[in-house]
Amino acid sequence: MSTTNRRGLFLTFEGLDGCGKTTQMRLLARRLRAAGETVIETIEPGGTDIGRAIRRILLDPRNQHLSAAAEMLLYFAARAQNVDEILTPAIGRGEIVVSDRWTDSTWAYQGFGRGLGTEVVQSLDRIACRGRRPDLTFWMDIDLETSLERARSRNRDQAAEETRMDDQERAFFERVLQGYQALAEAEPDRVVRVDGRGTVEEVAARVAAAYDGFRSRHV
Ligand code: TYD
Repeated sequence: MSTTNRRGLFLTFEGLDGCGKTTQMRLLARRLRAAGETVIETIEPGGTDIGRAIRRILLDPRNQHLSAAAEMLLYFAARAQNVDEILTPAIGRGEIVVSDRWTDSTWAYQGFGRGLGTEVVQSLDRIACRGRRPDLTFWMDIDLETSLERARSRNRDQAAEETRMDDQERAFFERVLQGYQALAEAEPDRVVRVDGRGTVEEVAARVAAAYDGFRSRHV
């Protein structure tokens, strides 16, 4: 029997580059569909046509001179479009939306990584997302070394077209990681830390357990 939640549900996956969130998000979506749910997968930045155009600006390695404020506003611009085009309609239909990154990435990368602070991120979130916040966020926690190594090998494999954020110095990613740690402490009910080490299957089992725990608390 379908377990469709008529209220809709918004789930997000977060973490450092190379943390495995994209793979884990797909696996959770597949599991939820097998249980009869309608699941919409999206990504930030880039979940809409407009978002993809904005993503090209954000990740183009030629745009090293993009200012920190412009960068933050562009991430929010892409997200605002997603809210109107994808998120709000799907939640209204009672579906489950899973997103590969959301505002917590801005909190960690721009708020902490760029040092813009978290207050401005929260203010802009109110404008862009208009109160629409994730019900549950999986923070895929891996150590910095693993993240940097995975990002490097991915950039060797791919055509290296989307490397602007990966090109940051190590200290930047240390601050991003601190941002995620602070977030998990600030919002323990929403943000669950998932140990990202181990095989894909091991991590998927942790994600599934965290999801089931959440559902049992929010029937
Ligand atoms: P993504 O394509 O998810 O990269 P990855 O597969 O490496 O996780 O995201 C692109 C980059 O954009 C990534 O380095 C994180 C960064 N980012 C921000 O800095 N702020 C944001 O608000 C978002 C959504 C992403």
